[in-house]
Amino acid sequence: MSRLTITQLRQMKDSGEKIAVLTSYDASFSRILEEAGIDVILVGDSLGMVIQGQESTLPVTVDEMVYHTQNVVRGSGEVFVIADMPFMSYANADQAISNAALLMAKGGAQMVKLEGGTVNISIVKQLVERGIPVCGHLGLLPQSVHHIGGYRVQGRDPEDAKSLVKEAKQLAQAGAGMLVLECVPATLSKVITAAVDIPVIGIGAGIECDGQVLVLYDMLGITPGKRPRFSQNFLINGKNISTAISDYVDAVKSGKFPNEDQQY
Ligand code: KIV
Repeated sequence: MSRLTITQLRQMKDSGEKIAVLTSYDASFSRILEEAGIDVILVGDSLGMVIQGQESTLPVTVDEMVYHTQNVVRGSGEVFVIADMPFMSYANADQAISNAALLMAKGGAQMVKLEGGTVNISIVKQLVERGIPVCGHLGLLPQSVHHIGGYRVQGRDPEDAKSLVKEAKQLAQAGAGMLVLECVPATLSKVITAAVDIPVIGIGAGIECDGQVLVLYDMLGITPGKRPRFSQNFLINGKNISTAISDYVDAVKSGKFPNEDQQY
């Protein structure tokens, strides 16, 4: 049994096979996700909100991310595992290298994800030079929620859209192996996906991305409060969890998710 590799994920982009991604934070769900055909598990710092009940992702620590990554890795054997680097754990290169090393060596992640573009380029280069694969994250950056002033769509303004395209290219040139695009107009994510040769995974970014990710608890309908427009509850009509996840995988792979109403 071996895990999916970044090379295989790149081949999926090249061949047009959509990449199905979900977040997970523990062994039991990770096993179900893997059995249902998920390609990539993101151990997201969204765990701060959906597991810990925090108001944002900001309080999540590196130790907590290591713990949850270990659990996900134990519960799976074939999926590609990405671990989020929490808020301020990559504010400079030294910090980024030692924290990413913990997530990889102790946690067992195959890649780390960090939020932001231009500001992180030198850090991304230094991580990649040391053999640490990096996933970028552009668009809505939940770790910057207080700066942005809420969870809102990014890149609607033509200048912002231009910057996002530039930052995506910079990240790919710096060696990032994957990119998450969150809450941007579908027309913009189409441009970005075509502009870089690394897999682009969208959340609220439309159908043209190379793959889709959702927060597991959102797509199971167990996150309290109003569901974001781009999400879908797959656990409806008396389905069980395994079927809901398989339906999500099928919907992503067949291009049925997201639909027109689920994009900006
Ligand atoms: O933390 C997380 O779950 C994420 C996704 C929203 C992409 O970063």
